Amino acid sequence: MRTDMTITPGPVELARTAAAELLSQARAAVQARGRFDLVLAGGSTPRALYALLADEPSLRADMPWSRTHFFWGDERHVPPGHPESNYRMAHEVMLARVPIPEANVHRIHGEQPDAMEAADAYEAMLREFYQLKDGQMPRFDLVLLGMGADGHTASLFPGTQALGEQKRLVAANWVEKLNTWRLTLTAPVLNNAVSVAFLIAGADKAESLRAVLQGEWQPEVLPAQLIRPTTGRLLWLLDEAAASLVQRNGS
Ligand code: 6PG
Repeated sequence: MRTDMTITPGPVELARTAAAELLSQARAAVQARGRFDLVLAGGSTPRALYALLADEPSLRADMPWSRTHFFWGDERHVPPGHPESNYRMAHEVMLARVPIPEANVHRIHGEQPDAMEAADAYEAMLREFYQLKDGQMPRFDLVLLGMGADGHTASLFPGTQALGEQKRLVAANWVEKLNTWRLTLTAPVLNNAVSVAFLIAGADKAESLRAVLQGEWQPEVLPAQLIRPTTGRLLWLLDEAAASLVQRNGS
């Protein structure tokens, strides 16, 4: 696993840096395989990145929209039009504003009343889409991830059932502290990607980021530590505020 870290002055530059990285991965994937399989992160941090890709003329023109397939790393247990929906956020600021074939958008159906059924359905879609045999996992070109101030990533929250899931591709994960089900790709799937990029901004993430990167290995408490791509590249895209407690080389 190759690990890189880029620290930008603030969230605007973070979005620009992330867009450049994403386009580079997209070009490489389309050149190699004719397709770019991208897993979107939820939450608020990636919103600026998605908006930039849709609105900045040079980025919009460079993005191979018709050859990009969009997946989600996790979803809330809500309908697609719900304010909490990760799909809704990406759709509003990006997907609805660019020329993407509907067949290229693979959202998690958070509206399904039974969260387990929603997880099973997304897993079945992935197995069908990638023609997976038993034991095989999808290999996404780029997985975007955020990190909560508690060290969670995707919907892998501290002390929750899905942290230890090694067989399933997609899990329904009960999150006691939120009193809700979440739907999430599992760590083995995330770690099977060609490239994984964390986008983390803000001082409220500084302590947990320090602990994740430089503290003891305790993934039950800090699930972001589970993300160690098997053969792929791990990229930490941070702004100064989030990285303020991270010991730099030579500092
Ligand atoms: C979600 C995300 C989650 C998010 C972090 C950071 O569904 O909320 O997938 O893992 O990336 O909570 O969220 P912010 O970017 O809003 O800080």
